Parts: sequence; C-alpha cells; structure tokens
Amino acid sequence: MIGTSRPMIKACLNSFISAHRHVKKPAISSLRYATTDEGSKSSRTSRLPNGPSLEHFIANSSKTTNSATSQTHDPIDKIPYIQKSALHGHGKKVYFDVYGCQMNVNDTEIAWSILDSNGYQRTTDTTEADVILIMTCSIREGAEQKIWNRLNQLRVLKRKKSVSTKGSPLKIGILGCMAERLKSKIVEREKMVDLVCGPDAYRDLPRMLADTSSGQASVNVLLSLDETYADIMPVRLNADSCSAFVSIMRGCDNMCSYCIVPFTRGRERSRPIDSIVEEVKILSDKGIKEVTLLGQNVNSYRDTSESQYAGGFESDSATHLSAGFKTIYKPKFGGRRFSNLLDKVSQVDPEMRIRFTSPHPKDFPDEVLQLIQERSNICNQIHLPAQSGNNEVLMAMRRGYTVEAYMDLVYHIRDIIPDVALSSDFIAGFCGETEKAHLETVNLMRQVKYSFVYCFPYSMRGKTHAYHRLTDDVPEAEKARRHMELSSVFREEVLKLNQAQIGQQQLVLVEGKSKRSVHDLAGRNDGNKKVIFTNTEVPCEISSKELKPVTPGDYVVVQIVRATSQVLHGVPLYHTTLQDFSKRQTTSQRYCNASTI
Ligand code: 5AD
Ligand code: SF4
Repeated sequence: MIGTSRPMIKACLNSFISAHRHVKKPAISSLRYATTDEGSKSSRTSRLPNGPSLEHFIANSSKTTNSATSQTHDPIDKIPYIQKSALHGHGKKVYFDVYGCQMNVNDTEIAWSILDSNGYQRTTDTTEADVILIMTCSIREGAEQKIWNRLNQLRVLKRKKSVSTKGSPLKIGILGCMAERLKSKIVEREKMVDLVCGPDAYRDLPRMLADTSSGQASVNVLLSLDETYADIMPVRLNADSCSAFVSIMRGCDNMCSYCIVPFTRGRERSRPIDSIVEEVKILSDKGIKEVTLLGQNVNSYRDTSESQYAGGFESDSATHLSAGFKTIYKPKFGGRRFSNLLDKVSQVDPEMRIRFTSPHPKDFPDEVLQLIQERSNICNQIHLPAQSGNNEVLMAMRRGYTVEAYMDLVYHIRDIIPDVALSSDFIAGFCGETEKAHLETVNLMRQVKYSFVYCFPYSMRGKTHAYHRLTDDVPEAEKARRHMELSSVFREEVLKLNQAQIGQQQLVLVEGKSKRSVHDLAGRNDGNKKVIFTNTEVPCEISSKELKPVTPGDYVVVQIVRATSQVLHGVPLYHTTLQDFSKRQTTSQRYCNASTI
C-alpha cells in the first residue's frame, strides 16, 4: 500500500469488493441473502478456486489511473482469474430493448460496444436472440410497469426457446436504472431474469453473461465515483442517423426531493474534455452533422482529470450559480467547466450543430450564454426545467430557486440570445400542490411561451426525500386533470409561437423521409422544432441554377408556410451550409438594425 494515493486505494478497494461480489455470487434461491457467505457455497466457487487478492487490484489500478482517458476500472479481459475464452460471446446474438431517456440509448450503445468487442453479434429479431438485454427506466412507476409487462411477454418466448433449442436457453438481462433501484429483488420477483446490471457496471457484462451459463443469476449493481466510460466509443444503434449523442457526464448531486436519479445513477462525475472532443472529431469524420451533449446535469460539468485545472480554471474556480439559485451541496471548486467544453466541442467542426441536454437552471453563467449566442453552430435552444410555477412547491421539491429567480433567468437568457427556443419539464400534482399552486404553473407556462414541454403526473418513488418526508396527497384523478390542463395550455401557447414563424426562412438539417407522407421530407430547425417540407430538387446554393436532390444530412433553407402546435410546414428553397446561412443572417440583421437607427 505504501506510495498509493488515497483515491487510488478507494478505487482498488472498489474493484476488489466488486470482484469478490462476483466470486461470492449466490444461486438464485439464495439471492435474498445476496451478500452473505452463503453465496460462496454455490457451485460457482468451485470454478474459481483462486479468486483475486487485493494485490491484483492494486497492481492493475496503478497501471491505469493517471492517463487522461483512463478509468480506475480494470479491463474485463485483464481480470486474472477468468479465462478469456469464457468472456467471448462466440457470435451469440444480442437483442436490445431500450426504454426511457436518451441517456439510456447512449448507455445501450456503450453496452453494445463492450459486447461487440467481446465477440457478440447484434440482432433486431427477438426470435433469433440468444440474449435479450432490457435497458430500463425508473423515473416513474409507469416506466417500471412497462418493463414488468415486457418481461411477461418474454417469459413466453424464453419458455418456447428452451423447448426448441434444448439446453441453450435464452438469457434475459435487466440493465440500467431499474436494475440499480431494485437490485436482486428483480430476480426474486421474476425468476427467469438471468442478469441484473446497474448503470456503472456495463464493463462487467461479458463476465456476467459468462456467469449465467451456470444457470444462476448474475448481479452487479455497484455504483462508481469515477466511471464515465470515457474510453469506450459507443456503437450507434441507428447508424443511418446524421445526429449522435455524446455522453459528457453521469449522475446527479442535486437531490430534488421527488427524483430517483441520484439513487440509480449515483454521484455526479464528468468525462475528461479531451476524450469528449476526440469522440466528436470521430463523429465529424464519419459525417455526423449534429451532436447532442448528454448527461443528467450537463451544465454542472466539471472536468478535474487534469491536475493543472483541478484547483481552478482561469477566473472560474468556485461554482458561479445563476443569480437567485442555490444548491443542496457545498460549492465545488476547480476543473474545466461546461463553457470550456462547449468552446472546444463547437470548434471541432463549424458545420456540426451542437446541442445539450439536460441542464439545470442553476448553472447558466454568462460565459455559457455568450458562447451560445456567438457560435453559429451551437443551437439557440435551451432546456430549462422549471417543474412548477409555485414557490411553496418549488421549495418542497428542493429545486433551489423561486419562480421570480427562474423568470429573471428567462429574461436574462432572452436578453443575450433573443431568438432562443426554451423548453421545460413540469410535474403535475406534486405533494401539497393546491389548485392555486397549479394555476401558477399554468401562468408560468403562458408567460414563458415554451417551444416544447415535457409534463408528468407526479409519481412517488421510494428512497427519495419526498417519499420519506412528504405526503402524496393529490388524488391520481386530479393529477391527471392538472396534467391534461398543462398539456393543453402548452399546445395553445406553442401554436401561437409556431404560427409566428410563418414567413421565416429557416435553416433545416434534413433527417429523412417524413413519417406522414412519402412526398415529404423532415428535418429540424435551430430551435429543434420539426419542419416538414416537400421532397423536391432545389438549387445547390442560393443563386445557383443547378438543382440537387435533398438528402439526409443536408442543410437546406426552408420557407415556413404553415404551422400546427407540433410541427412547421415549409417549402425548400436552396441548399446551404451552416456557416453561409449564419453569415447571410448576420448581414441581413445588420441591414435591419441600420434601417431602424
Ligand atoms: N414523478 C414525475 N415526474 C418526475 N420527474 C422526475 N422524477 C419524477 C417523479 N417522481 C420528471 C422531472 C424531470 C424529468 C426528467 O422527469 O420533470 O425533470
Ligand atoms: Fe433528478 Fe433533479 Fe437530478 Fe434532474 S436535477 S436528475 S430532476 S435530482
């Protein structure tokens, strides 16, 4: 141990505990006592007579902790007590079922990348799958119910398959938030589940799958303080898409009183800037035209991996919260911040659009807002989850701001980025929410005029502060009514917002065919609104006579002619580039300003 730093000791111990958990993994029947010695009596131990010692992990960790992109996690194929061939998939076919948010899609791509490099194949047909992995969501009760329903269907498939394949039964695994929340309880309730893998344990999937061949369930739900999968290039599930998601941080320290995320995804940690920039460069080389930076709290990003920035970066040492916002946790110091990351990422390719989600309103310093305003490839679109428009409810939610502070931020953002598209999340019927409080939320929605809103009826989650300390006192029917009212007020307001865009010429990144009509194409404008337009050849550039078809990944200028509450409809005018379009806009704005002086 001499000469080993404290964080490294922690990492070593984590790896040690993690691996010993695997060694002592109990048979399904003893899962109730998952961490007891009873597990070590299972047949698994006979295959592992010489389990790893603490020294194995110290030796392995000390090899990897210092490089920018390294993790303190041992590569699975270097674990000394498992034969490499047992970790190989030998062409077994894996089917992925993905539920929940975009983070889950990205996590699936990471899990798939790990299995892909371990000899597994991917299938999109459940009937030919050897393994079905379900990426799960726990945010609301309804999300989990969908997964239980899915497991009911898969039970039938598994039974059929075990009859037809005689002896190589279908393996079913639960990954992600629900795995983390319920742990081995999943296997107790649904005996046909073979694998339960939490969000920080995907590197362990090859070993876990190898383990399931013994007929026992494999469970790894250890959360990590440093896992960001920085060194894993996700293999994109939708390879045809011209946009991609890049994970920049994981976890959440905010502890909003209603939210399960801090418990299922663990503490906030950021991926080193250099590894993110590297991934964005690779995506740009592959022709990707839009990258969305992903995380539970993207704008709390803080990369402390490089020692020269760990104590502070330029003027930004302590957290600069937006005015009127506070956190439940102590101020954090040092590291490269979200503005530093946005700066670097947006310089990779000026033709690549940059978006980010999901941010928290507390972390919007002017550096970030200025950068969004200045860089033509950072989209003028900000998700600003409000959750409620009533101060008592916001306090009970532990959001750390008042409606007044939130509105001041909205005005401030609109001062700096006048044409910004704002979106938000709202919860209807949170504990103690009165009709008056609900109407204040309706009022906030009307005042801000969001371009998009996600609204959810409150769903009580175990472990959270609200579960322990507050009463879920709004009846379900009332939650549903308020949810409906918020949704219809949003639709009413957004229709006006969309109709105000009729006549504008907008830059649209083409995604592909419209789902509604074979004659139309669909794409997104800068504010992330869907734009549908006729599929026809248009000039190569503004004043060209040469016509060119419009294909996915192209930037076209579209004249908006019609709007509903959901989409804009338009006529394509000509092909362009992001830089040309923005130059032209700046010039016309200059003319506009000059003529009004
Ligand atoms: N009930 C309802 N909605 C919730 N959200 C998070 N937790 C809950 C819950 N328990 C919503 C919040 C958050 C979004 C991702 O999900 O609005 O911003
Ligand atoms: Fe949940 Fe709040 Fe963290 Fe968002 S910021 S993930 S709502 S705890």
